[in-house]
Amino acid sequence: MKIAMVASEANPFAKTGGLGDVVYSLAKELTVLGQDVIIVLPFYSSIKDKLDTLPGEVTSYFVSMSWRKEKATIYRTYVDGITYYLIANDHYFGRRVMYGEYDDGERFAFFTLAATALFENIDFKPDIVHVHDWQAGMLPVLLKEKESQNEFLKDTKSILTIHNPAFQGLFPKTILGDFYGLPDSLYDSGKVRFNDQVSTLKSAIVYADKIITVSPTHAQELLTNDGGKGLDSILRLREWDFTGILNGVDYLEFNPETDDYIYIPYSVSDFKSGKDKNKAALLHSMHLKDTGKPLVGLVSRLTWQKGTDLIFAMAYELANKGCNLCILGSGEYQIEQQLEKLRATYPDTVGIYIGYNDDLAHKIYAASDLFLMPSLFEPCGIGQMIAQRYGSLPIVRRTGGLKDSVICFDGNNEDKANGFGFDDYDPAEAVKTADYAYETWFNLETRKKLMKNAMETDNSWRKSALKYLEVYHSLVPEDK
Ligand code: GLC
Repeated sequence: MKIAMVASEANPFAKTGGLGDVVYSLAKELTVLGQDVIIVLPFYSSIKDKLDTLPGEVTSYFVSMSWRKEKATIYRTYVDGITYYLIANDHYFGRRVMYGEYDDGERFAFFTLAATALFENIDFKPDIVHVHDWQAGMLPVLLKEKESQNEFLKDTKSILTIHNPAFQGLFPKTILGDFYGLPDSLYDSGKVRFNDQVSTLKSAIVYADKIITVSPTHAQELLTNDGGKGLDSILRLREWDFTGILNGVDYLEFNPETDDYIYIPYSVSDFKSGKDKNKAALLHSMHLKDTGKPLVGLVSRLTWQKGTDLIFAMAYELANKGCNLCILGSGEYQIEQQLEKLRATYPDTVGIYIGYNDDLAHKIYAASDLFLMPSLFEPCGIGQMIAQRYGSLPIVRRTGGLKDSVICFDGNNEDKANGFGFDDYDPAEAVKTADYAYETWFNLETRKKLMKNAMETDNSWRKSALKYLEVYHSLVPEDK
């Protein structure tokens, strides 16, 4: 089957969060399963900066955006069996940042139109075009409204994966005619309209052949008034075509037995001593005093979505009890400042690194005993699964993918529990659970069992990719 992933992020070139991991890992696993997969990405200047040599230029063409024409220059490169097509246009993508620009509506309209035109240009006739989040959300619309008579694309099916429903791609109505060359009637009939704007995410929900979100629980949440971020009613109309598939973790990248970033490799048979050594080395490198109590890790984008109130409630509780904390993250300035305050309160035992740092992230996963992830909402979440892989027990709020991936210890399920959790978004609940995890840690036998369960949890991409394939095959015949 020929599959084109059209996305704004994909490892190893462009990543601000889990989206970049998923697009790459899913494509890689589908490739291993014998599928012909390409990834189409904007050629941001941040990608150019990372490359030693420019990939090969394959073609270029003009994209009509209503009355203007903008040139798309296409570069091709290969990673892990996946072919990447990078769409360059310096005016739109020759910038340091990926999003949050005043003209995002226009930039991603160009990207979407250029991606639609790409397939014929490179003679890749996709059975499936798979878009992710809002950025190329209008592609399913273009396929049905503009390309349905086009011999080349008329049989192509589209899939949308919703990674984060809080980003809805809201733009003025004028983008329809001005950029996409689509009629206002789509707006007037409500098909692409959302809160009196065009929403490229909602448009994709209306037009894609199948819709997926990144965990079964989040799929349920999105269908409710409370959890739907306003999209519930429209998703309910598509309920039969909508499902949740839990993301996986890249088991090559995250493997304590072979990880070059961590101090000492370890496996499920020697994790106690392996983790102890990693802990000692990490604390030493961060100039922290080992308190002999649990090491608590946090690796996160710092944004309200991640449950900041609960993070701080738990962090202070645990630091107060004498735990070591190692925290890595970047994001909202205010949260960074609050973290600084925490560090200043416990300068000998709490270490903070503000920024993005793969190396340190791996070290924290390997060294920590407990891992904080009490998100306000979490479509899937990857940190908790990586933590499990390294035998660090996640403390989560049971929402979205956190609920689907963590079996919470309740005192009686030592044979299968692989973390701790609570339900309500309530600091008191969070602190109670943190205390429970802290107490449990001192019972060495239980601790070891839970950590072993965590390390043996199967969060591999294979499982998820097979489910995606099933969805593709519900649209495309098996022999493809
Ligand atoms: C978004 C979601 C996160 C999910 C990721 C990848 O970042 O917030 O929960 O894991 O996308 O799907």
